[in-house]
Amino acid sequence: MAKITASVFTSHVPAIGAAIDLGKTTEPYWVPLFAGYEPSKQWMKDNKPDVIFLVYNDHATAFSLEMIPTFAIGCAAEFQPADEGYGARPVPTVIGHPDLASHIAQSVIQDDFDLTIVNKMDVDHGLTVPLSLMCGEPDAWPCPVIPFAVNVVQYPVPSGQRCFKLGQAIRRAIESYDQPLNVQIWGTGGMSHQLQGPRAGLINREWDNAWLDKLIEDPEAAAATPHIDYVREAGSEGIELVMWLIARGAMADVAGGPKPTVRHRFYHVPASNTAVGHVILENNV
Ligand code: DHB
Ligand code: FE
Repeated sequence: MAKITASVFTSHVPAIGAAIDLGKTTEPYWVPLFAGYEPSKQWMKDNKPDVIFLVYNDHATAFSLEMIPTFAIGCAAEFQPADEGYGARPVPTVIGHPDLASHIAQSVIQDDFDLTIVNKMDVDHGLTVPLSLMCGEPDAWPCPVIPFAVNVVQYPVPSGQRCFKLGQAIRRAIESYDQPLNVQIWGTGGMSHQLQGPRAGLINREWDNAWLDKLIEDPEAAAATPHIDYVREAGSEGIELVMWLIARGAMADVAGGPKPTVRHRFYHVPASNTAVGHVILENNV
């Protein structure tokens, strides 16, 4: 049986990828941000999973307005880093896990969540920046990755509650896989930011940290956050946070197991226009 051993939560920002790729991580602006991920990179080395199930959002890169799946699971053998306008990031190809991904698709769809099956897809900063933050600049990513794309770009977007329940279905799916794999689930995007309109540049440090407290201690309460609260309090792009609830819903305590251990927590403002939040939770089962 496969097992979810930990969940990782982190923001993504294209400028973080550019800072890494252009050798700017030691510039004063970036030093505090990357310092917050040093313990995480060490933790990844000490806790190398067999597979990462990576919940992220595509930013109209692989999916345009012509086709917008709410939840899409990457079942391909590999995924290329996308060209988002400045050429593809010089990062390794993402190797998938078609067998586990297909199993999860089968289980989750039969568990009443409609997923879109994706057999060819490039992955944008939403997926590659969290990998870079957690793994640094390796020649190859440490393990296969199953990309799981959520629509938080084009309305209507899924509710936090639905994402939380989907995470529970993903845990059931992973635990019913017949190979003894160590799986991490990552929830990415957020925290507060707004990239457009009169409120562009919005950051809400107090709300973000209160939401982080809830995510860790009382995930049901975090999942009950109404959609409008994300938009009002965390800005139009703050809605990316619903993706963290998928990863949180997959943790053992949500299904009656023991509370997870908080291995790391970090918050930094700003990275470009975004408040960066980051948490690592370890399952105690
Ligand atoms: C920024 C943040 C995002 O989440 C994104 O997708 C693009 C840009 C930013 O802060 O610049
Ligand atoms: Fe984004």
